Amino acid sequence: MRVPNVEDSSGVSRADFADLRTEFSRFMMLYQFGISELMTKVNILKDEFTHINQYSPIEHVTSRVKSPDSILRKAQRLNIPLTIDDISKNIFDIAGVRITCSFISDTYRIAEMLTSQTDLRVIEREDYIADPKPNGYKSLHLIVEVPVFMSDRVRHVPIELQIRTIAMDFWASLEHKIYYKYNREVPVELLDELTEAAAAAHRLDVKMERLNDEFAKIKALPHPDDEILEQDLPAQFLEALHLQRRAL
Ligand code: GTP
Ligand code: MG
Repeated sequence: MRVPNVEDSSGVSRADFADLRTEFSRFMMLYQFGISELMTKVNILKDEFTHINQYSPIEHVTSRVKSPDSILRKAQRLNIPLTIDDISKNIFDIAGVRITCSFISDTYRIAEMLTSQTDLRVIEREDYIADPKPNGYKSLHLIVEVPVFMSDRVRHVPIELQIRTIAMDFWASLEHKIYYKYNREVPVELLDELTEAAAAAHRLDVKMERLNDEFAKIKALPHPDDEILEQDLPAQFLEALHLQRRAL
């Protein structure tokens, strides 16, 4: 069924329009369900990490469903026929989830943990961390498909998953704001500064990761106070303490 837009609503009867609205809102709901499925997976990883290690590589997670307006605009821009069928087969970022991690290695670790889950299918992978965009943009982009179990069928919903570090996210949100403020015509000096800021953000990421690796080595060593504590601990507590230290 064809989706009418502002310029193209002639010839669509009131009944057809009501049918279309129902169909379109069911279509949009599916993407929200897809997000809920993926968010459950991400939150399980986050909670499990926090429970075992008192630390989670996932700093925060956000999600969004594209507005009907921007879906139609994107379809028009890409010359995709304005039908629900064509839109669903050609636009893969209607649902989006963004995971912000502490360190670069965490972005790959989280991607690996999610994509190795048997019910999740990877449709596309673009590694803008290893291969940044010319403006300096970095993120790991995946299009994944998650199954959504409806009352009478299973639908496989594509979701654009962006995984990045806090520094990459900081840069991308500022760049996005500047880009829109200048209506995409950003002065060249500002563009140069943004590219330099992306390089600085990357240096920070590398430095923080190295510091964290050093810290992990120190953390593995017993603290002098621990030895005193250990003398008084019953055997089963001592074993639990050692297990926990190894997990940290
Ligand atoms: P679209 O999906 O139409 O955006 O085109 P594409 O598939 O070529 O885009 P790509 O997969 O490279 O990027 C999709 C999303 O990543 C965008 O909607 C943004 O959220 C983000 N992104 C990509 N490039 C940039 C960038 O240069 N700056 C910022 N701030 N975000 C970007
Ligand atoms: Mg894309």
